[in-house]
Amino acid sequence: MAVRVKFVDPAKLYRMIKNELDAAYFEVMSKGDLIDRGQLKSFEENLAKFVGTKYAVGLNSGYDALHISLRAAGIKQGDEVIVPAHTFVATCSAVVNVGATPVLVDAGKDFNIDCDKIEEAITDKTRGIIPVHLSGWMADMPRILELARTFNLTVIEDACQSLGSSINKKMAGSWGLTGCWSFYPFKILGGYGDGGAITTDDADVAQFATRMRYNGEDRETGEYHGHGFTCLLDNLQAAFLDVKLKYLPKWIDHRKLIAKKYRSGLSDIPDLLLPHYDRPGFDHIYQNYTVRSKQENDFSEFLKENGVEVLTQFRKPYYKHEALELQDRGFPETEVLSREVCSLPMAVELTDGSVDYVIEVVRKFYGR
Ligand SMILES: Cc1ncc(COP(=O)(O)O)c(C=O)c1O
Repeated sequence: MAVRVKFVDPAKLYRMIKNELDAAYFEVMSKGDLIDRGQLKSFEENLAKFVGTKYAVGLNSGYDALHISLRAAGIKQGDEVIVPAHTFVATCSAVVNVGATPVLVDAGKDFNIDCDKIEEAITDKTRGIIPVHLSGWMADMPRILELARTFNLTVIEDACQSLGSSINKKMAGSWGLTGCWSFYPFKILGGYGDGGAITTDDADVAQFATRMRYNGEDRETGEYHGHGFTCLLDNLQAAFLDVKLKYLPKWIDHRKLIAKKYRSGLSDIPDLLLPHYDRPGFDHIYQNYTVRSKQENDFSEFLKENGVEVLTQFRKPYYKHEALELQDRGFPETEVLSREVCSLPMAVELTDGSVDYVIEVVRKFYGR
């Protein structure tokens, strides 16, 4: 069957705000403002305001945000950094690429790092922890900050999937030394190519990132302050992102309505676990609507066969990929959830009719 409900539809989203995106494009192109210009500055200011930090520094990707953050924290060879066993591989690769050793910790029931298992992973070499806020739902930051204080660890938030999420109104990306952002096209705030940023309250970290993204150069003095990288957020992408950022609060509300619809249409199915955790103060923004189905691939394949595009990240956990040479210490929750996860379509461009259709197909699978 042909695709009836797309997972995301970037061309449709473009049509929804075409005039503004086109205007941003013409402004940049007609002036030739390609690198490190006003649009980048404006986006950084607006992003920092949105997240509630003093600074935001635009980078080329979420990976770069993690990598530069680790360097800013002085994490290096011989150090250990705690990362979740269930995350996108970039969280872990950034640690490996600064020469440090990632120490993996199993997921909890909400897909994020299991805080009950962090302490046993800490050794005298542990320098940092990277909690990941998956799918729009934050890791338990009050608890993680407490552990970090006790064991003197630097906290770098991988907030790539959670722009706009919060705990007790304090936004993701404003809790750690840095918050790391990805503007990969299918993120809640997606560009039209790769993009990323860090947010931070630390002036030295912001300055370090601003230099490192430009090969270590201070753009005002021309002085190189270290061996850096080429990983600046393009001005054109910044202009597009700045347009989209204005819509984000409205789009998050829309996503919450879709999630509500899924919940009322599917919550009576015992074999299907829905991503509603109802923790006071925690705000889910539904970057993804990831369910767990006891029927694993049979469930996701049925949806696809019936024209519903779904994502099953990550069927094979990253630590099981041999070439990454990571130690599989046994992560029981990650093992099971990796087989069960299935993200249903969740995007601001989805119509009510499409959501109803997804619900209908899921119910049909369960014979309801
Ligand atoms: C949790 C997480 N961490 C890191 C990244 C890396 O971001 P990017 O693809 O922009 O490098 C992503 C995005 O794909 C992500 O979802």
